[in-house]
Amino acid sequence: MILSLAPPMEGVTGHVFRRVHAECFGALDRYYTLFVAPPQVGKGFVGRAKKELDPAANEGLDVVPQLLTRDADRFVWAAGLLQQMGYREVNLNAGCPSGTVISKGKGAGFLREPRELEAFLQDVCERSPLPVSVKTRIGVERDDEYGEVLAAYCRCPLVELIVHPRLRVDAYRGTPRWEPYGRTLEEAPFAVAYNGDIFDVDDFKRLTSAYPQTRHVMLGRGVLGNPALPRVLSGGAPLMADELRRFHDALLAAYEEEMGGNAVMRMKEWWLYASCAFADEKSVRRRVRSARKVGEYRVAVESIFSGEKFLPSARYRG
Ligand SMILES: Cc1cc2nc3c(=O)[nH]c(=O)nc-3n(C[C@H](O)[C@H](O)[C@H](O)COP(=O)(O)O)c2cc1C
Repeated sequence: MILSLAPPMEGVTGHVFRRVHAECFGALDRYYTLFVAPPQVGKGFVGRAKKELDPAANEGLDVVPQLLTRDADRFVWAAGLLQQMGYREVNLNAGCPSGTVISKGKGAGFLREPRELEAFLQDVCERSPLPVSVKTRIGVERDDEYGEVLAAYCRCPLVELIVHPRLRVDAYRGTPRWEPYGRTLEEAPFAVAYNGDIFDVDDFKRLTSAYPQTRHVMLGRGVLGNPALPRVLSGGAPLMADELRRFHDALLAAYEEEMGGNAVMRMKEWWLYASCAFADEKSVRRRVRSARKVGEYRVAVESIFSGEKFLPSARYRG
């Protein structure tokens, strides 16, 4: 079974998180980057994308860069740059639900036009020097949109299709539909992965019992809530308070090195998920919320680890 880490949530699971998590809990089988816009043809990656894709920042990890675009020339150009950087696959984002992305027909917005999506994929699969995978939702507004979308995907020589079986209008709410995932497993001529709401062993067992052909599960918020989740799903020990503390400290140190005082903001985002490792989540969030400076933040964290009841069965609950 391949266990991978989903593209970053609130920017939290970027290259810093990947590296620290792998050091503390062992590497997952695969990681996906935050989505980056391909540069103009002839230009290189800059800014945040350059940092996220820097091979040195991802050394030793199997990382798949994700592109958000509907411009085939730029996609192919970016795939060439990524190949030179040592990457072995490139992923298209066909799931981002953000209004500004959708309005440009990108992300989940591409699903409104299955013909254009297919033409784009046929073109980039032919010209890209790297194999192309896609992370997709099942549609924009209605479940029945997926029939046409899946048929389009199935005609393309993708290396893998990762299915997050929600609609754009769901954002991250409600329960993912498993039936479209099952249909994809049956119909797709390429590898298929599942993503969505796998937060503990029970979720994982229900999915893999219902669909024993499952060979790749992408984990997202579940790993932010319980960083030991990949180990637990592989039959390993539950999360321990002292390892969560060590992970926290390493993450804070790495973010401080990366972004100085803004590390507190990033850590607060992490706590929105990590608070589920404590019995009183609200109290944990309250303790970190008011901290502005690193010193105040450290005091709040000390009070959490010394005063709040820890739950080894940490499970993100949405
Ligand atoms: C705040 C936020 C930002 C996200 N950004 C991305 C992204 O850049 N690319 C992507 O493919 N998915 C993105 N996702 C979706 C996640 O990768 C994942 O598909 C989603 O959280 C469902 O998986 P989970 O239930 O295991 O968390 C984002 C999700 C959240 C909540």
